[in-house]
Amino acid sequence: MDKLKIIGGQPLCGEVVISGAKNAALPILCAGLLSAQPLHLSNMPDLQDIRTMETLLQKMGMRIERDADNYTLDGAHIASPEASYELVKTMRAAILVLGPLLARFGQARVSLPGGCAIGARPVDQHIRGLQAMGADIVIEHGYILAKASRLKGARIVADMITVTGTENLLMAAVLADGETILENAAREPEVIDLARLLVKMGAHISGIGTDTLVIQGVDQLHGAHHKVMADRIEAGTFLCAVAAAGGDVLLRQCRPDTLDAVLDKLREAGLEIEVGVDWLRARMHGRARAVSLRTSEYPAFPTDMQAQFMALASVAIGSARVTETIFENRFMHVQELNRLGADIVVEGNTALVQGVAMLSGATVMATDLRASASLVIAGLCAEGATVIERIYHLDRGYDCIEKKLSALGAQIARIT
Ligand code: EPU
Repeated sequence: MDKLKIIGGQPLCGEVVISGAKNAALPILCAGLLSAQPLHLSNMPDLQDIRTMETLLQKMGMRIERDADNYTLDGAHIASPEASYELVKTMRAAILVLGPLLARFGQARVSLPGGCAIGARPVDQHIRGLQAMGADIVIEHGYILAKASRLKGARIVADMITVTGTENLLMAAVLADGETILENAAREPEVIDLARLLVKMGAHISGIGTDTLVIQGVDQLHGAHHKVMADRIEAGTFLCAVAAAGGDVLLRQCRPDTLDAVLDKLREAGLEIEVGVDWLRARMHGRARAVSLRTSEYPAFPTDMQAQFMALASVAIGSARVTETIFENRFMHVQELNRLGADIVVEGNTALVQGVAMLSGATVMATDLRASASLVIAGLCAEGATVIERIYHLDRGYDCIEKKLSALGAQIARIT
């Protein structure tokens, strides 16, 4: 299993190009199931999760051509509308095939995702919404078996804000008969990116970017061209790394407009940030100040940046309270950061971080994607060598992270 070895203490300097967003690309690939005509996608990130989704779609009969970060999806020959446990257990986002399969083919067999390192993450809202649209759903032998001759528009009020839940129901509603109203919908930029693609495919959606999406179903969708939005979490991770390790970095091809809450907190920490339309420049002199935060749905502070900010707070001046409100178990990085010399105590859903002057390198273990990113940041500013094990988590969601960081001057290498 690959590991990363980092020798800390180098400031980061130079330019980095931000890749396409994993959490936009995954639902967008599933949208390829909604039409028999080709989808042309660009700015696809090179990630393990994307390859897993490709395998899943190909098993159903999707034809995929790939040329660097450009993909062409041909959904004219889907023969087997199902997602097996073997694939779903490795990537929960596979649940995103459920809505499109049911909407276009009237049936789907999708494994229940099961447990997850960061929380229980049930899919009850996805199922409840599809049932409200007339789907007949049973759970049998760990699989969701769904049928509907044609889904019918409905008014669906979600019990909680769910990103993939909103995306699944949106993809189902675009081909349903009549009007669907999704209330308490997620407003994450990735949901907006998916909605924009669906509109290009001929869907009728209003309220995009708000918590109420109104969809007039159509009989069929056509092909389209779409560029996947830039990854706001990758951008935020690089900014946190600069705030923690120091330096001067230009982020290119990013979406500063999707990063307001993160930029506010980084400025509070002392990071100097210049903002352009599609670039950001970050400079850090000296040690960061500790900043407290609370995760919440967009546009508030994202849970996917919580672990990286905890690494930053570990080396900041002062103390920070970090409260996680989205997932019940997303503090797995705390034990590992403490092995590097951080001073973090968890009380319920809040971590109290007392900044220390210096972390000290050690061997640590990645437990999930964003936890791994926090360990990379900690390693970049720790004294001596940090070895991060189980970095397959990192490969699921960060495109060439060690190459991008070493181009910025970090001493980082993959040990295979
Ligand atoms: N929830 C339910 N029932 C449901 C759906 C969600 O109880 O039917 C709960 C979840 O357990 C959680 C909360 O609602 O406590 C919010 O979960 P949500 O459904 O929004 O999360 P998700 O759609 O499964 C996406 C991202 C995550 C990101 C979250 C929150 C994708 C593929 N994944 O997950 O990304 O953390 O939204 O913003 O879009 C990551 O990239 O590292 C990652 C975990």
